[in-house]
Formats: sequence, structure tokens, C-alpha cells
Amino acid sequence: MMLHIPGVLTPDQVAYMRQRLHDAHWIDGRATVGAQGAQVKQNMQLEEYGPLAYELGQIILNALAANPLFFAAALPLRTCPPMFNKYSGGGTYGNHVDNAMRRVKSSGQWLRTDVSSTLFLTDPDEYEGGELVVEDSYGTHEVKLPAGDLIVYPSTSIHRVEPVTRGARISSFFWTQSMIRDDAQRCLLLDLDRNIQSLRTRLGDSDETVNLTGIYHNLLRQWSEA
Ligand code: NI
Repeated sequence: MMLHIPGVLTPDQVAYMRQRLHDAHWIDGRATVGAQGAQVKQNMQLEEYGPLAYELGQIILNALAANPLFFAAALPLRTCPPMFNKYSGGGTYGNHVDNAMRRVKSSGQWLRTDVSSTLFLTDPDEYEGGELVVEDSYGTHEVKLPAGDLIVYPSTSIHRVEPVTRGARISSFFWTQSMIRDDAQRCLLLDLDRNIQSLRTRLGDSDETVNLTGIYHNLLRQWSEA
């Protein structure tokens, strides 16, 4: 499932991050990939465990924790510390898959990447190119969102970032281990959840909406790992 979650960050939060990132020390993005990724990756990143990435990452994690749509879509068990990248001057990241397992340095814990997220920090009119292109079982999707908006997509997909030929594209990206490993099951739960919410809004609570809510939670109980 690919899902666009608008307004994860407020305009003020975006402006603050942009200001903090303006003079940041960017390093070669190849520092954090394996040999295969290094051949196609050409961008800049903030030092992964540096103080600035930590500070801005906390703002993002707090915003995610307060976002009901992110919770419903990702069903997050844990999310790794957000990272930051910048593409400019033809910067690009060719077709690749994300590593399945990542070790979170602060906790020493392994995290399975189920859900990938990109949080846009620059607006589409600030740069040329830079589309996130995701290939999944339903085809090829191109994504370029307003600053403050988030796209979530399955980490199992092949994806790329098109070359940025004018301006700069700055974003945060991170991975989440979901309580539901399987993307198709996560999709069904989100679909059911949204329909229950819509029924409740339209008709109020009834025996049926209580039963449907029970089915949602029983499916979650069947499928979740935590
Ligand atoms: Ni990737």
C-alpha cells in the first residue's frame, strides 16, 4: 500500500527544520549503503547519529505518534531514528531495495523494515525532478509532495529517486517495523478501519459497528507480532 499522509508537520515545524538544515554539514550518502546501493546512490545525508539528526528526528517521531492515520496505516511496532537527505546538482538514487534489517545503534535492537516513509521538507516548485518512483504489484507510482507531507510505502518494493536537475530536494526518511509484517494484511486492516470510522461518523454507533470493531481487533490479534 502507498498512502499519502498530508500535514504530518506544521508549516512552522517545516520552517524550523529548513532553517536548522540550511547550514548543516552534509556528508556523502554512500556512507550508509552496501556495495550494490553505492553504485546507484548519489546524494548527501546528515550524519546518521549526529545531534542535529537526533533533535529533528525527535520532532518527527513526536508528530508521528500524534498522527492517527500513520498509526492506522503503519501499525508501528518501532520506528528507527529518522535520517535526512538532500539531492541537488543531478543527485539521484537509482533503483534499489532497502535492507530488510537495520540495527538501531542507540538501543542495539534489530528492526525489520516493513514500511518505508519519506517526509518531504521542500515544496515541489523548489526543484526540478526528484520524484520518488515506487514499483509495487499495482504498477509504477511517482510521488512528489508538499513540504510537511509524508508518503508511506512497502519496504519490499523497488524504488528510486529521479535526478534533481534544478534546486534542492530535502527530505527525511525512515523505516518502521510494523506489528503486521505482511503488506496485504496491513492494507485490509486499514481498509476495514477506515470503513468502520466512516460508518460511525455517518450513523453513530450500533451493534454492527461494535461487531465490526471486534472483527478488526480480532484480526489484529490473529496477525500481529509484538
Ligand atoms: Ni530506499
